[in-house]
Amino acid sequence: MSEQEWVQVSEAQIAVHWQEEELFHPPAEFIAQANMTDPSIYGRFSLENFPECYKEYADLLTWYQYWHTTLDTSDAPCWKWFVGGKINASYNCVDRHLAKHQNKASFVFVPEPEDEPHLVLTYRELWVRVNEVAALLRDFAGLQAGDRVTLHLPMVPELPIMMLACARLGVIHSVVFGGFSGRACGERIADSGSRVLVTMDGYNRKGELLDHKSKSDIAVEVAQEEGQTVDKVLVWRRYRDRHASAAPMVEGRDYFMDDLLKGYVGARVDPVPMPAEAPLFLMYTSGTTGKPKGCQHSTGGYLAYVAGTSKYVQDIHPEDVYWCMADIGWITGHSYIVYGPLALGASSVLYEGSPTCPDAGRPWRIAERLNVNIFHTAPTTIRMLRKAGPDEPAKHSYHFKHMTTVGEPIEPEVWRWYYYVVGKGKAAIVDTWWQTETGGFLCSTMPAIQAMKPGSAGPAVPGIHPVVYDEEGKEIEKGSGRAGNICIRNPWPGAFQTVWGDRGRYVETYYAKYCHDEESKDWRDWPYFTGDAAMQSQDGYYRILGRVDDVINVAGHRLGTKELESASLAVLEVAEAAVVPLADPIKGRVPDIYISLKPGYKPSQRIKAAVTQAIEVSIGKIARPQHVYIVPDMPKTRSGKIMRRVLADISNGRDIGDVTTLANPEIVREIQRMVQG
Ligand code: WTA
Repeated sequence: MSEQEWVQVSEAQIAVHWQEEELFHPPAEFIAQANMTDPSIYGRFSLENFPECYKEYADLLTWYQYWHTTLDTSDAPCWKWFVGGKINASYNCVDRHLAKHQNKASFVFVPEPEDEPHLVLTYRELWVRVNEVAALLRDFAGLQAGDRVTLHLPMVPELPIMMLACARLGVIHSVVFGGFSGRACGERIADSGSRVLVTMDGYNRKGELLDHKSKSDIAVEVAQEEGQTVDKVLVWRRYRDRHASAAPMVEGRDYFMDDLLKGYVGARVDPVPMPAEAPLFLMYTSGTTGKPKGCQHSTGGYLAYVAGTSKYVQDIHPEDVYWCMADIGWITGHSYIVYGPLALGASSVLYEGSPTCPDAGRPWRIAERLNVNIFHTAPTTIRMLRKAGPDEPAKHSYHFKHMTTVGEPIEPEVWRWYYYVVGKGKAAIVDTWWQTETGGFLCSTMPAIQAMKPGSAGPAVPGIHPVVYDEEGKEIEKGSGRAGNICIRNPWPGAFQTVWGDRGRYVETYYAKYCHDEESKDWRDWPYFTGDAAMQSQDGYYRILGRVDDVINVAGHRLGTKELESASLAVLEVAEAAVVPLADPIKGRVPDIYISLKPGYKPSQRIKAAVTQAIEVSIGKIARPQHVYIVPDMPKTRSGKIMRRVLADISNGRDIGDVTTLANPEIVREIQRMVQG
């Protein structure tokens, strides 16, 4: 595909209309208190000082034993950081804060129902609970270092407690987003080889107490079909006095955590000193082919990277009140709710529910009441709050010094609303571009050093050295006005180590495209392929245009189009399915599905409903298609490939361009009439 073509097919059309935006300078008040104001950090983290520069981040942590090799490239491109070092993530996030901060809030849990009281979890209480749960995992569930556990939990304090209890033992956690279906959870259980599943009876979402435990029964069944037996399901109770799930407890398999914990009151478990390169967790993410990839993140490198970026990019100080309104079930929550902030001894808000429940003033009431001064969310939420309550922020007297946007490109108008209305013109904003795979930020301004530019993530963060390649691997110069594939020249400690159980896929997906020499043990030969399109302006700022492959970013969550298509094909009548992104003012992108039927079947509402249902069951409500169109045939190339680009243009009402080279150009007009009337 030529570059021109793929920029068009890329889901982010903003590129086409891109014009330079004006710069906004960080407020003097912010600079005066910032953790990092010294531009020489870029020199310290230059390629000449690579990889030793990362000691600066690793030194933010407490090690049992220092490393002998900062970066081991002998198994390229599986990079190993801080080899020889021994560390425990739970110790670094909890125990080491006790001497000074035992009575400081680690989390303030805000339940969705507004009449329920907040719960303050001090570092001392976090430590007590992490110890008791770790003892239970070790002695009751029989887990030890290297085992995997799947955590299918909502946004409640029990989730970080479980993660830290696993980390204490060196057990690898795999958190599955609470909104995912039982089937999606079961597939991830099977892939990770977990024999313990942790869930909760229910949780509050959009004013309803949802039944969550029932998903675990499906999950266990699906895992079993794929050959993985789950022998224990540990069930937290959201409320002691009412059971939120209709699903029965299975004798000998399901256990209530509160019952079990009675046997572990006062238990203490020494943190296990883990090799720096031991896996800390798996986080599944969608790719172009059906099966989600388990991104394997390390202990020492990952923790060093998220601690460093939390300190300098998020500007977290111990006295701040930090609120990242993401879900811990995604990488943002792992890195910037749990591990980074806790490594720094931060106090964070943990909010259970929907940002607009019961109304669009909710986040600002929480911010005012808890005196939040660092706020972190995604463009989809910003758009939603702007639509539902454009004037709400002004009614509340909170003061943000710092705000983050993450997860998808933010439109400049939305950025300006965030800056002027949410931030009241007084906050430094960072637009942080990164991925599940990268563990932490790749591009962002350093908030007290550079000016902000709406819609641009900014330059690379210290220690990250991007390059934009064209399809042939030639560098696209900054300021050329042309977009290309943004890659990272060098490894960094936050990067994932491999795709769990599938090194081949790791190499193929992320390193094969621009590798100079597959035998090489030199990192310079292995640029990391992000899969995003980007352009770099003259001043060095990167503007990210979106994915170049078949992933749809819905409300900041990556969904594999192949996953949705495979789910549709599970409906008996469906012959072919193609999923395309439809621009949506709130969610950014939503899936539109085109299906064709097997011979002998007639289009019906029932089939459309069955497709929607199949997607909800196999992936979750988040993937629900906006439209299901039943078409007589798919537009195809002569070699038989479905032309998703043409369907995307039709869905979005764009000019479809020249389709005369297709095998069946006449079908395009017919579909156009059907969709656009
Ligand atoms: C997109 C989320 C523009 C990008 C942390 C990336 C962004 C994908 C930004 C990763 C941003 C993330 N500006 N696009 N600030 N942040 N993206 O794995 O396409 O859920 O590849 O990680 O989201 O999504 P993931």
